[in-house]
Amino acid sequence: MEIDKAIGIFDSGVGGLTVMKEVIKELPFEDIIYFGDIARTPYGSKSKETVTKYAREIVHFLSSQGVKIIVVACNTVTSFALETLRQEFRLPIIGVIKPGVKKAVEIAGNKRVGVIGTEGTILSGAYQREIKSIQPSVEIISISCPLFVPIVEEGWIDTEVSNLVASEYLAPLKTKKIDTLILGCTHYPMLKKVIQKVIGDGVKLVDSATQVAIETKDVLSKNGLIRESNRKATHKFYVSDLPPKFKELAKRFLGEEIREVIKIDMSEFVK
Ligand code: DGL
Repeated sequence: MEIDKAIGIFDSGVGGLTVMKEVIKELPFEDIIYFGDIARTPYGSKSKETVTKYAREIVHFLSSQGVKIIVVACNTVTSFALETLRQEFRLPIIGVIKPGVKKAVEIAGNKRVGVIGTEGTILSGAYQREIKSIQPSVEIISISCPLFVPIVEEGWIDTEVSNLVASEYLAPLKTKKIDTLILGCTHYPMLKKVIQKVIGDGVKLVDSATQVAIETKDVLSKNGLIRESNRKATHKFYVSDLPPKFKELAKRFLGEEIREVIKIDMSEFVK
């Protein structure tokens, strides 16, 4: 039955596990299938065409597993490919941008919003368009912070390096006196403490993971697809490559040990 199918979640790599963590909190009785495109990460510096091609293959894979909904837990994929995926596939597909933007616009005081993300996300203009569609008067200052991803993956969370890099990237946002800052990348919530310290206590940080989980529950509920609460959920993990550090890294993002990870060959899903 449709209701018994899993939720599919995917990202370019491990970052989407921060979204999965929130989805588990919100929907503890749902089965989840996670896919991380470790072989081809990062997506943040790649073109729209390439990211869309990869995303399409992953949605084909998740569809072959029989999922009832897909959560695109990657800001770069959401920026470049969400609309295309929605046109090409029939199942509900949720992105990470709209839920975070809704929250940011709701709390933005003097309506000066900062957005940080990968190069692809910022260049795509997706956040800017989404914010303007809800609140045209908002002033938006967006900046790409490509070094944040490797810093987080190195585990250099609250170090001299992360503080220095954050000070450099966030300086223009401080000058512009933003009052709300959207963390538009899967990895940035891990640097929340440092970002808050550098940007100042007066700026509200918006991390879309929680909002995405709420939106997923909402969409499932509207479609009558929420499972009964008297069952144990299973979580399955698939990757396109399995480097030695994967499990250690994944544990940091998900907050729990992953026992089994299955490596699959993506060439089967090229259409
Ligand atoms: N998951 C990506 C994002 O949220 C960050 C990592 C990457 O560049 O692939 O945009």
